[in-house]
This record gives sequence, structure tokens and C-alpha cells, in this order.
Amino acid sequence: MEFDSQEGPQRSPFVPAARHRWGCFDVLRFCSLGLLSLVSGCQGPQSALDPAGKGASDLANLFWVMAVGGAVIWLIVVGLGVYSLFRPESGNRKKAAVYIIGGGVIFPTLILAVLLSYGLSMLPQLVAPPPEGSLRISVTGYQWWWRIHYYEGSQMIELANEIHLPVDEPVEFILTAGDVIHSFWIPSLGGKVDMIPGRQNRLTLYPTRTGTFRGSCAEFCGTSHALMSFDVVVEERAAFERWLAHQAAVAAPPTRELEAGHDLFLANGCGACHALRGTSATGSVAPDLTHVGSRLSLAAGTLRNEPSDFRQWLSEPSQLKPDALMPHFSMLPASDLQKLASYMESLR
Ligand code: CUA
Repeated sequence: MEFDSQEGPQRSPFVPAARHRWGCFDVLRFCSLGLLSLVSGCQGPQSALDPAGKGASDLANLFWVMAVGGAVIWLIVVGLGVYSLFRPESGNRKKAAVYIIGGGVIFPTLILAVLLSYGLSMLPQLVAPPPEGSLRISVTGYQWWWRIHYYEGSQMIELANEIHLPVDEPVEFILTAGDVIHSFWIPSLGGKVDMIPGRQNRLTLYPTRTGTFRGSCAEFCGTSHALMSFDVVVEERAAFERWLAHQAAVAAPPTRELEAGHDLFLANGCGACHALRGTSATGSVAPDLTHVGSRLSLAAGTLRNEPSDFRQWLSEPSQLKPDALMPHFSMLPASDLQKLASYMESLR
């Protein structure tokens, strides 16, 4: 389409005065550049548009159908709008009525009905329960961390802030919350489901490729809502089984160099809130730390899992995660914080 910029008595005030005439090619080039710059941000470990699971693939397809459909309709509407600006007044009311009823009532009703049917047709497989005997994981959201339970026969293994899954197998999540409403979302694997205190919601995911992904809380839940994430590792069945067996084991006894850190952990009352399986620390109101050193991140995806970050977290948690219940230990000498950090880091 080309804008007609000829002078004349009927020249519209909307005609651009600039010399450059925009042709179809310019418009196309402009749109593709814009689209490219948008799409380049669609990859990564936390992208619903870079699916690594069946549910996420369906949702990404739905998104693209909606986005492309919406763009085409928008272009038609804008095209008609621009056309109406430049065409001479015809005064034909019958023709106008056809445009209004056809374009304003029939066309949107048809399009919305088609899109709704397409979206609804996906629903049964998105909410279908997994086959009997599938892996089950329960996750409880707290301000601002995740309690995770795996079930191995009659054994329950408690972990925190990191989930591993075997690839190409369905897994059922049983979701609830311990304080306020949170929302469980791993964008690369599927849709999100609310975590509501006193209620169990279920979500089935089916990872289709290995990799490390990121999950997040998707419901505003207080000051540090944005600091409530977790890592998700999708791996082959054998690697998953090795990981789970290791996580089920108790903490290794400290070596001679790490004994001081272990003693500081118990002497400072950390065990009142945190559990360290295999020691006298059996607290249950905060994350289980038995294998905290093996995790990919600290403080629910907030920090790197490194001694310096451990030290910082122990010293000033409220600076890093406002309103977190973790008390600060900045009164301890730097050498003690270092020993504690080294011991925590060793809990692989
Ligand atoms: Cu939990 Cu937002």
C-alpha cells in the first residue's frame, strides 16, 4: 500500500508531509525488524516460547496462533481505517451497514468461536491426570521458598528449592501453600497452577528434553515475591535415580577441617528451623539443608551457590531478601561466618 500524498482540494490532514514514501517493502522490513528484536528475547531457561515439555509446546502453539491471528486482524482493521480516510465520501448507508455488521459482529464472532474451540480442544490433555504409578512430587510454597517432597515407595524425601525430573516421563505435582497464595510455574515445561493454603491442586508435566530450567512464583505473595524461584533439572532416568538416591541419604559427617563449621551450625541454633538429616538439627519451619551444597543456587534462586554468597546470606539475609524470616548472623566474627559457609558449601 502506498500513501497518496498528492496535493488537492480533498487532501486529508493525515497525509504525512515528509518526502519519503513508505512502500510495502518498507513496512514489511520495519515489521520483521521489530518482530526479530522481540523474538530474540524468547529463548532461555525460563521462556514459555522455548518449550521443553508437552504442555508448554501446546501453550506456545496456542500463543503463536493467537498472536499471528491477532496481527492479521489488526492489519485488516488498520488497513480499512486508512482506506476510509482516503476514499471519497460515497454516502452509501447500505454499504456502510454491511461493513459494520459484517466486520463488527459476524467476523469477530466467527473468529472468536474458532479460537475458543481451538483453545478448549487443548484443555483435556493439559489437565489429564498421569498414568498410575507415575512420579509424584509435592511442592508447598512459603514466603519465599519451596518445600519439596519426593516419594520413593513408602519413603518420603524432603528437599527444597530444586527439582530434578526424568526426561520423557509424566510427573504429577501436588501443590499447596503454607502461608499465603503462591503460584507454581515452570514456563519451559507447562502452564501455571495456584498454590492455595488448605487446598491441594494438581498439575501434570511431561518434559521432552534434558536441560536446566527455571521455575518461578507467578502470584504476587509479598515483598520478596520476585525472589522466589527454583531450578529444574531434566535429565536421563539413570542420572535422576542417582541424584534422588544421593538426596535421600543423610548428610556426610564433617571432616576435621569442617568440624568447627558443623559445631557453629548447631551451637547457633540453626537446627531449630533447618533440618540436617543425620545430625541433631531437625527443624522443619525452614528449608532442609542436608544437601544444600549440591544445589544450583541459594535462597530460592536468589544467590549463587558459593561460599562468598553463603557468607553474605548468613550475615545479612534481610538485605538480600526483604522480610525473609531467616535471622541475620552479622554478630558472628568473620572467621566464624567463613567456617559456617565452608561447612554449608561442603554439604553436597
Ligand atoms: Cu510466592 Cu509470589
